[in-house]
Amino acid sequence: MAKVLCVLYDDPTGGMPARYARDGLPAMDRYPDGQRLPTPEATDFTPGELLGSVSGELGLRSFLERQGHELVVTSDKEPPGSEFDRHLADAEIVISQPFWPAYLTAERIANAPNLKLVVTAGIGSDHTDLDAAIDRGITVAEVTYCNSISVAEHVVMMILSLVRNYLPSHQVVRDGGWNIADCVARSYDLEGMHVGTVAAGRIGLAVLRRLAPFDVHLHYTDRRRLPESVEQELGLTFHADARAMVPNCDVVTINAPLHPETQGLFDDDLLATMRRGAYLINTARGLIVDRDAIVRALESGQLAGYAGDVWYPQPAPADHPWRTMPNHGMTPHISGSTLSAQTRYANGTREILESYFAGTPIRDEYLIVDGGKLAGTGAKSYSARS
Ligand code: NAI
Repeated sequence: MAKVLCVLYDDPTGGMPARYARDGLPAMDRYPDGQRLPTPEATDFTPGELLGSVSGELGLRSFLERQGHELVVTSDKEPPGSEFDRHLADAEIVISQPFWPAYLTAERIANAPNLKLVVTAGIGSDHTDLDAAIDRGITVAEVTYCNSISVAEHVVMMILSLVRNYLPSHQVVRDGGWNIADCVARSYDLEGMHVGTVAAGRIGLAVLRRLAPFDVHLHYTDRRRLPESVEQELGLTFHADARAMVPNCDVVTINAPLHPETQGLFDDDLLATMRRGAYLINTARGLIVDRDAIVRALESGQLAGYAGDVWYPQPAPADHPWRTMPNHGMTPHISGSTLSAQTRYANGTREILESYFAGTPIRDEYLIVDGGKLAGTGAKSYSARS
């Protein structure tokens, strides 16, 4: 019987919700490209409940315990001596979410001799050292597409809120004020601006589609070019790489995975080539940008705004400079953990576990590493170190 170690974020400070804001979720069975939503054999929770925090347990406990497996759920994950580290020693399966990542470093993997499967309950498996997983023959899987649209919606929200100066204007109201000039002195229309995405995978393309009706000029770069029909439909301008794209843009959104090619991409040099007063939105991964270069660009006015929900490390320390830098619209890492997304990734996690225990193939699109190499979505979207 397997020991399943699951790291989830803490429950709400006031305890689990007694009642939810809405009574259910819209019915869906397919993603926009036709991919099927997760299809576990059964679901032991009510869709729309809080599943991503410790007491939610991703709705997995009865499913696992019925089969005699052990489920350990904790939010205590920082080395050394965390509950996570203690249980890792004999865990066969580790599950965690990018919002509250259990960083599976090479050192931790070396201390987990029984580890066979690592599941990201979400998208983005960079918190696992993929090269170490490749070397050890560990399978890494994630719930591809489960929250791509959730993030795309968050990106559009953040672009509009920065360009329109929404958050400071809202604060004026909360503070009892009414100085219109204070609010509008940094407020513009998005219409007519040039907006570019670094990567046009599931999230990047969904952002482009959602922005097209705003009458903006759309740009993208990706290591795989989109079909010509999509480029024409959306009026996209393709650029060979981020360096070629960003000087043409008023707004840049980053939607690429974190891997050796993208780590540290937005440094002082690249930021200096952007238009003065550009906006940068990063919901991909904190390490794709240079933390202090972002602060400098906001302070100098090279960037008019920066928003996103991804930090390094997570949780971000109380003194992280992004909490206090000017003109930012940061949130904690929440965009992919709406209640809507949680239902999908809890079901997807269960589907992956059902396949694993049954010895049947995990859906190819869920695979990041398998059989000692990048596989499935991992082979398309990531690069290994060597
Ligand atoms: P996807 O796999 O559909 O798309 C990734 C795209 O990035 C692919 O088209 C790939 O060709 C492209 N790409 C990879 N390396 C590149 C490079 N060096 N330059 C240009 N393009 C490159 O994945 P999806 O669903 O769009 O998610 C993308 C990333 O967004 C995830 O890997 C994750 O890091 C992040 N994410 C963040 C979430 C959040 O809650 N903030 C939730 C979900 C994903």
